[in-house]
Amino acid sequence: MLRPILIWPDPLLKKKALPVSVVDDGLRALVKDMFETMYDADGVGLAAPQVGVLQRLIVLDTSPRDEGAQPIAMVNPVITAQEGTAIWGEGCLSIPGETEDVERAATVTVRFQDESGAAKELTTGGLLAIAIQHEVDHLEGVVFVDHVSVLKRELIRTRMKKLKAADEKPVPAKGGKPAAAGAAKKPGKREGRA
Ligand code: NI
Repeated sequence: MLRPILIWPDPLLKKKALPVSVVDDGLRALVKDMFETMYDADGVGLAAPQVGVLQRLIVLDTSPRDEGAQPIAMVNPVITAQEGTAIWGEGCLSIPGETEDVERAATVTVRFQDESGAAKELTTGGLLAIAIQHEVDHLEGVVFVDHVSVLKRELIRTRMKKLKAADEKPVPAKGGKPAAAGAAKKPGKREGRA
């Protein structure tokens, strides 16, 4: 089932997510929905708070960009080590049409539970490392624009507010100007959005 993705700024996107206490069928159903929603939006990652669920759960699939990458769900992910720095142009499914360079660690080690509740550890680099850091940020109520300058962030905030206002009024008033600003802002390039 597709779930609606919250668009920043939204109060839920600023909240810290709670640990998942039990990995059960309900959680696995949420994982399935999150993958479906992420693929539908052409994203490489999605965090549960982006669909309004304040739990520490993320899904990732960087296979459009990384050959051989597999879909992966991480329950209660914790970054335990990081190394080096890397700058990627990041986007976010909650901030459509915006891309900004963000400096992150180049390599991370993350501990998490898989969909069966088993403890796992992964050390990785490249886009997957960036996506993991981006998604773990979401669990802390942080989005990628919190890593850019105040000026850029405020410009993006203004554009997102216009986008949301346009989406809330999809039907143009009779004889009025069409409320299609939101549709016009739809991005052409989506890779790297999470
Ligand atoms: Ni995001």
